[in-house]
Amino acid sequence: MTETANPNKALWEKGDFTRIAETMRESGEALVASLGVGEGLDVLDVGCGDGTTALPAAQLGADVLGVDIASNLVAAGNARAQGLGLGNCRFQEGDASDLSALEDDSFDLVVSIFGAMFAPRPFEVAKELVRVTRPGGRIVMGNWIPNDPTLVAQILKISSAYSPPPPEGFVSPMTWGVEDDVTERFTAAGVPDENISFERDTYTFNYPGPPSELLGEFKSYYGPTMNAFEAAGADGREADLEAELGTLFDEQNSNGDTTSIPATFLRVSVNLI
Ligand SMILES: C[S@@+](CC[C@H](N)C(=O)[O-])C[C@H]1O[C@@H](n2cnc3c(N)ncnc32)[C@H](O)[C@@H]1O
Repeated sequence: MTETANPNKALWEKGDFTRIAETMRESGEALVASLGVGEGLDVLDVGCGDGTTALPAAQLGADVLGVDIASNLVAAGNARAQGLGLGNCRFQEGDASDLSALEDDSFDLVVSIFGAMFAPRPFEVAKELVRVTRPGGRIVMGNWIPNDPTLVAQILKISSAYSPPPPEGFVSPMTWGVEDDVTERFTAAGVPDENISFERDTYTFNYPGPPSELLGEFKSYYGPTMNAFEAAGADGREADLEAELGTLFDEQNSNGDTTSIPATFLRVSVNLI
């Protein structure tokens, strides 16, 4: 019997997110450095990719588990941890909306940077993040913001305009960038709203070539952009999509022949009592 296809898993296994993650390493390290991670802390990284935040947390001495729905990224994360000799960092497959392989109250810090936002069933996601976090622990999410004018929100907006409409009942991942929606999800999971706080933060995408080459990486390796190009191709609109994204990447870059593009996100902190 064949397994029912999981479109969420297929989207992220389709490309090779490690190619994009390479451009995000410095921001991942800076974010982890801001979290007060150290020896003895149990950290869970949900939607961890190949370890942009999990590995720096382990390098600071934490015991880190990375969970991701994409088996290729789990393998890449484990290979990177092994390459760095980090015995305190491992990666396994799992779904942010059902972390049943993990016990209640297991982690001091649960991080999800542009990860859990892509899982279906956001109320289940909030419930699961809270369930696996110890009392006194903390959840930190990084979420792209709908209609934000910077890079990633715009890539996702433009990509979705060229993609077929989502199935009925689909909740946009971008709703995780709306403070009221995030509050509703975590309060439904039992967190008092005064324990949920928000700030704007920035990730910078650094690439050694021009912005057109970085766009090429998204076109070839980033699931949502790959799907948009496929759909646009089927409609004879591939050149329009390429032009629209090309303008976006060029306009956002401030670095001449190489690429350095900042992107704004919503940083969510949830303190558990
Ligand atoms: C934009 S990438 C970010 C990866 C990583 N956090 C980073 O900052 O480099 C999104 C990640 O979320 C993962 N993901 C998507 N849906 C997921 C789900 N339901 N459960 C766990 N991970 C998921 C993808 O496989 C991918 O690795």
